[in-house]
Amino acid sequence: RKLFHQFLNCELKTDEQGNTKKQILSIGAGFDTTYFQLQDEGKAPYLYVELDFKEVTSKKAALIETCSQLRDKVSETASISQCKGEVLSDHYKLLPVDLRDLQKLDDIVTLANIDPSLPTFVIAECVLIYLDPDSSHDIVRWASKTFSTAVFFLYEQIHPDDAFGQQMIRNLEVLLFLFASKRKKIDLAMIEKVPLIYLFFMTISQGMRMVMI
Ligand SMILES: C[S@@+](CC[C@H](N)C(=O)[O-])C[C@H]1O[C@@H](n2cnc3c(N)ncnc32)[C@H](O)[C@@H]1O
Repeated sequence: RKLFHQFLNCELKTDEQGNTKKQILSIGAGFDTTYFQLQDEGKAPYLYVELDFKEVTSKKAALIETCSQLRDKVSETASISQCKGEVLSDHYKLLPVDLRDLQKLDDIVTLANIDPSLPTFVIAECVLIYLDPDSSHDIVRWASKTFSTAVFFLYEQIHPDDAFGQQMIRNLEVLLFLFASKRKKIDLAMIEKVPLIYLFFMTISQGMRMVMI
């Protein structure tokens, strides 16, 4: 949150009205409500784009359409389609995509009017853990290649071997067991491949910085 607010508060490029235009791209946004909280605080950026699977974005679009507290925070002229899993307004977009499809990610940049030259904060919170390592690398590389000035913020559960990690895995296994009757087997292979419990990982332009806690 602190890094997020630092990004929003810092003054970089200003437009003709003297406002700094910034973008936030939340990949695998789920039901996160940060955009709506930022609206409440008067801190929403020029553009906030959320991506997830259509199954999720359709449900989120329905919530935004029917809940006045959310509906009031996207413009009156916003187009909301539960069927397409889309919300398109001037400053907020919710779009369906499988993040592993990089061609579609390129299409999203155009569809959402994302300007690759604007300062961009890419959030991946508890998402890449669900992908295989190659797909995760591809997504980070895609972000690095696409945006000229960007922060890639990764917040993830890792380091499965200490007491906390072991408990986390037990909790996830119970959940996966409950899912297993309905869905094909899901494993936690990705967790085993990552060395620490929580990691903030930032790429800035083509360079990379890592901060671990
Ligand atoms: C644990 S939730 C995290 C949601 C949100 N970032 C948060 O922290 O509240 C993981 C989200 O990633 C999404 N996700 C996982 N793999 C994805 C993929 N390949 N393409 C799009 N979304 C994906 C899931 O649908 C889910 O909404």
